Amino acid sequence: MRTLAETALALVDSGRGILAADESIGTMSQRLTAEGIAPTEENRRRYRELLLTPRGLSRMVSGIILCDETLRQQVATVDGNVAFPLAAKQCGILPGIKVDAGTTSLAFGHGALVTEGLDGLRDRLAEYADLGAAFAKWRAVIDVETATEHSIEVNAHALARYAALCQEQGIVPIVEPEVLCAGAHDIGRCEEVTDRTLAAVFAQLRLQKVEPEAMVLKPNLVTPGTTGPSVTPSHVADATLRVLERHVPSTVPGIAFLSGGHDNATACQYLAALNGIAVGAPWRLTYSFGRALVSDALHAWGGEDANLSDAQATLLSNCARAAAALEGAEPAPASA
Ligand code: G3H
Repeated sequence: MRTLAETALALVDSGRGILAADESIGTMSQRLTAEGIAPTEENRRRYRELLLTPRGLSRMVSGIILCDETLRQQVATVDGNVAFPLAAKQCGILPGIKVDAGTTSLAFGHGALVTEGLDGLRDRLAEYADLGAAFAKWRAVIDVETATEHSIEVNAHALARYAALCQEQGIVPIVEPEVLCAGAHDIGRCEEVTDRTLAAVFAQLRLQKVEPEAMVLKPNLVTPGTTGPSVTPSHVADATLRVLERHVPSTVPGIAFLSGGHDNATACQYLAALNGIAVGAPWRLTYSFGRALVSDALHAWGGEDANLSDAQATLLSNCARAAAALEGAEPAPASA
């Protein structure tokens, strides 16, 4: 059996990345509805089955993050129904579980958000470990407009409490402090807020005795706001590497970036530029993309069995571009 540090390394160290398929029931239902697909439990299961089962996915994907509903559902295989965590392992992919309970308004936070889900978390983690989860994820959300020392500290504290509980229960924590890219701010403002956020997160992780060797960091890339002044991928790579070098201990095995609403081509260009300049960095720099991997596949599927192989080919092609970006390779244009 692997140690936690070995599992953390396995998630980031094989030229592969993590597929985030952990949208809550509410968010997933909205995304199905937007594609004209009925937001039923069975359709959410069919969609996650589509994402997990393309042949060859494990060449590019080391882990898949699921939500509570999917972790308890079954994949239909030729040998009968198999629970998602076991099906993932049979595909050579580590199963993970999103354990936060989403965000709520922070008291006296002037519009800032705080992530909930610590109550009862120790028992939930023990159950998830029994169900086969090898790792977990908790997402804190920082909006540059509302970010204050108060909101950053409260979210960092919760992230570290979650991470410590994970390690206590034998699960690798993915620590995700996301500085949102919504807004008209420039890249300098994103760098400043990401810098303050990572400083607070690693201070809390140290205080709460989280072992850096046995975690994965999942931050945002440092970019301008979606309606802010645009910059080149090389500018994004420089700014991102600067904040990582300032705050991430060299003993953290890997950093797996979220895509944050950037499309596949854009997110992969940024990741390729970063890997191109980070030669010699102590951590592996990979992806834990959600939308940048799966949105095109959901659209191609449309809920129809007849579209399954096209949708899976679309997913594989997005994963292939992300995997190529780990080599610092300029991604090929999207085929879809
Ligand atoms: O928590 C967010 C997901 O795990 C990553 O999603 O890549 O679409 O931002 P994203």
